[in-house]
Amino acid sequence: MSVTKTLFDTMPDGAPVHLFTIENDNGVTAGIITRGATLQSFCCPDKDGKNGDIIMGFDTVAGHMASGTYTGNIIGQYANRLCGGKFSVNGKEYQVTQNEKGKTCLHGGGEFNSAIWNAIIIDDDAVEFTYRSPDGKEGFPGNLDVTVTYVLTQRNELEIHYKAVTDTDTVINMTNHAYFNLGGAENGNVLDTELMLNCDYFTPTDADSIPTGELRSVKGTAFDFTEGKKIGRDIDADDEQLIMCRGYDHNFCVNGEAGKLRLVAKAKDEKSGRKLEVMSDLPGVQLYTGNFLDGTETGKGGVKLQQHYGFCLETQYYPDTPNHPDFPQCTFKKGEKFESLTIFKV
Ligand code: BGC
Repeated sequence: MSVTKTLFDTMPDGAPVHLFTIENDNGVTAGIITRGATLQSFCCPDKDGKNGDIIMGFDTVAGHMASGTYTGNIIGQYANRLCGGKFSVNGKEYQVTQNEKGKTCLHGGGEFNSAIWNAIIIDDDAVEFTYRSPDGKEGFPGNLDVTVTYVLTQRNELEIHYKAVTDTDTVINMTNHAYFNLGGAENGNVLDTELMLNCDYFTPTDADSIPTGELRSVKGTAFDFTEGKKIGRDIDADDEQLIMCRGYDHNFCVNGEAGKLRLVAKAKDEKSGRKLEVMSDLPGVQLYTGNFLDGTETGKGGVKLQQHYGFCLETQYYPDTPNHPDFPQCTFKKGEKFESLTIFKV
């Protein structure tokens, strides 16, 4: 096991952005950069032993900054959407940044993912990233001290440990927004990737991608991944939810008890033979199939990022949770510890 620290790039003002690379004894590596505590790369062998990077992304900080993809970023203070950018805590209404169509708040207004995080190597398999989100930033209450620790194990598990403590009651929902392409950057789209989701229900949305509040059974619909199927099999089905979002961009309710680590998803790419398993203690997972990629952004190795060139499995509290009292809640009290774990195993 080893961790190395190198200079990845610089910010426009010249500030350094460092890259931490954790490597295990199987030659699996995870690279994380300090801008956005971003998972920059995750390399593992294919069926012929050839190492390849399964994270869609960018070679430079400028690439990340110009992009609307949030690829590999840690997202917060509230991952995914808040209707009207509004929510209440203890009866007090807060208005946060409406960075999407001037209506919704998407991904916390882009706060955590564009911050430069402090980072230290805490072991030969682990790097700890910290960030203080000041009270009122993007409108969110509370000084929030956030720690995200990436650990790569000898079992090829990349663990992402999330911790946060607030000094004011507030909402917290964090995720990692990696886009996976198990065949690597040159593989093209991910429609042939086999995906199994351990999810019997999903949360349909309105036209602004805000959950309607319904938990809909996946049975007999294009949203049924319980038995495993190719991502592309039903993606063009005549289903208003898919048509509206140009593919999957929905929160699925993970089976089993939230708060306990359990299987979320399994994916496999036949061609490369690479596999991915996702585990988490969070209640939901956003399956997003890169629907809005349109070739205008150039990713790693000069590849034009086209529609469906990656899939995301963003473990999370359900979108817009504070406005849906029936959803598992994510309001945390002053001094209370937020802790969560998501694992990507290759
Ligand atoms: C959202 C998508 C959005 C993507 C990139 C996902 O979490 O659900 O609607 O396009 O992130 O911002």
